Amino acid sequence: MALMTSPDLHEIDSTLPSGWRDFADVLAAGVDRVILYGPPGTGKTFAALHFGMRSVDSERLICTEDITTADVTGTWMPTGESRWEWLEGPAVRAWRSGGRLVVDEIDRAAGDVVSLLLAMTDTDGSARWRHPQSGEVLEPAPGFSAVMTTNLERLDELPSALRDRFPVAIHIDRPHPASVWRLSEDLRRPALNGTLGDADRRVSLRAFFAFDQLRAAHGPERAAMLLFGETKGRAFLDALAIASLRA
Ligand SMILES: Nc1ncnc2c1ncn2[C@@H]1O[C@H](COP(=O)(O)OP(=O)(O)O)[C@@H](O)[C@H]1O
Ligand SMILES: [Mg+2]
Repeated sequence: MALMTSPDLHEIDSTLPSGWRDFADVLAAGVDRVILYGPPGTGKTFAALHFGMRSVDSERLICTEDITTADVTGTWMPTGESRWEWLEGPAVRAWRSGGRLVVDEIDRAAGDVVSLLLAMTDTDGSARWRHPQSGEVLEPAPGFSAVMTTNLERLDELPSALRDRFPVAIHIDRPHPASVWRLSEDLRRPALNGTLGDADRRVSLRAFFAFDQLRAAHGPERAAMLLFGETKGRAFLDALAIASLRA
């Protein structure tokens, strides 16, 4: 990806935060079942979708309390007069293409969805799925991988069966240097640090992107107030001013 190879990134930060280094090492070793966990807005989903992917696309499943097994492997759909066809879900599509299944916010999925996801991400060689319409028995195509993400801070909050199936779990607590590249220059380092001093006041990557956009239209004061309110907005502007003095 162009964003990741920009030379300017080295000026921003030549040392990759450890979680990101771990993820790169794990992918390079060919490990194809990974969980990324940690606070929101650090680029976990982006990385799961794009890092290490070349020719084939990723299939994304966003978990909520409301999704069902139909959202994983598919469901019967009416396709005309008294005709029904099985519309394949993201897990089956990723099996067919040998691409990556990205399961976002896995902690929010209900038990039966998790069970099906475990079956669909079982070790290559033992995973099988029978197509309800054609009877075809599928296996994951070579190259199939699965990355799950969660904003949980502690891994032991995840079902143990899932932990067992995904032995490599990486804590991501800071944005990837590549992710700040689209921000205005003065915001890049503060965004990488992710926090205004203490954990309670962490500002996510998404908030930095929004701030940048609002600031361009309405100026910094108004942008900070709109995003964070009076107290935190003031603290945010102070922290930016200090950061720019240091730079
Ligand atoms: N490497 C990157 N390059 C460009 N944009 C990125 C990168 N990583 C994250 N982003 C952007 O930052 C925002 C937050 O990333 P996201 O992956 O959704 O975080 P998380 O899943 O940790 O909550 C998104 O708008 C995303 O597109
Ligand atoms: Mg996410």
